[in-house]
Amino acid sequence: MGHPSVDAITQEAREAVAAAQSAAELEQVRVRFLGRQGVLTQLLRSLGTLAPEERPRVGAAANAAKRELEALLDGRLDQALEAERGARRARARLDLTLPGRRPPRGALHPLTRVHDEIVAIFAGLGFSVAEGPEVETDAYNFEALNIPRDHPARDMQDTFYLSESTLLRTHTSPVQIRTMLVQKPPVRIIVPGKVFRRDVADMSHSPMFHQVEGLAVDRAITMGDLKGTLELFAREMFGSKSRTRFRPSFFPFTEPSAEVDVLCFVCQGAGCRLCKQGGWLEILGSGMVHPNVLRNVGYDPEEVTGWAFGMGIERIAILKYGIDDLRLFFDNDLRFLRQFA
Ligand code: PHE
Repeated sequence: MGHPSVDAITQEAREAVAAAQSAAELEQVRVRFLGRQGVLTQLLRSLGTLAPEERPRVGAAANAAKRELEALLDGRLDQALEAERGARRARARLDLTLPGRRPPRGALHPLTRVHDEIVAIFAGLGFSVAEGPEVETDAYNFEALNIPRDHPARDMQDTFYLSESTLLRTHTSPVQIRTMLVQKPPVRIIVPGKVFRRDVADMSHSPMFHQVEGLAVDRAITMGDLKGTLELFAREMFGSKSRTRFRPSFFPFTEPSAEVDVLCFVCQGAGCRLCKQGGWLEILGSGMVHPNVLRNVGYDPEEVTGWAFGMGIERIAILKYGIDDLRLFFDNDLRFLRQFA
């Protein structure tokens, strides 16, 4: 006959439709049988080459096969498209029952916490916060503070000089000078900030650390005011049972000068590892502002007096939290920092 049997083609097409897995594969089946070069299309086109008595039978069977295949394809195509839409929707759907991802919680650095606490205590006493530059002049860092040329602090060994006349400030005291130069008494400031000294880092030294300076200048300010203020500070910082002790000391910019200790809160003075058996812990340096310093900023020491103190924030934090190595503050080790969360 020369023509593949219509029945065989129909059977093959049914199987191909059944085997197709997607709309795209169904389209391939359609092209294969019903496309312009399709098997059934070609069969219909070649009916004229058949014997005249064959034509009606083969033609009717081929047309029936074509309609069946079209209907079959349409049905399966709708199914396939609907299934694909469903799968897309399922992929995109949010599962609102999934537990959320907890964002990591940050915490303040222990030095920031101690800084904030110190500032809050003095703010409550009417002090305002002043700041100054970390790159300072020799004049403000030393000269105006009555620190003589031959003082050991001015040695290259101890100070980071940037030039003959500029340096990284070695304490926050130059901000005393800067403030008094632009402000008339009364002055009540605290000055938190970074300071720099030429030390090799070890468990008790760091080339950079933080201080808080305090300065009060007014008529008739006395050493008694200094003692009362610092005793109150110690009770707020270390607890109501805390006790303070003033020890005579020396600073070029204060006269008289005193170092202040708090009673060791681990052993209550009996002697332990923290206080190195001394019973007391040194927390700061202080004193009455030297008349030369007042004169250097244009104040009259006959009219006004003042006191000043300087304390290390790291030192306070070490005592408060019982930390044994200064470097822990700067290593950014999360195992250490998380303890303050
Ligand atoms: N500036 C001193 C220091 O860094 C501390 C201090 C400040 C002492 C103010 C007395 C008065 O050691």
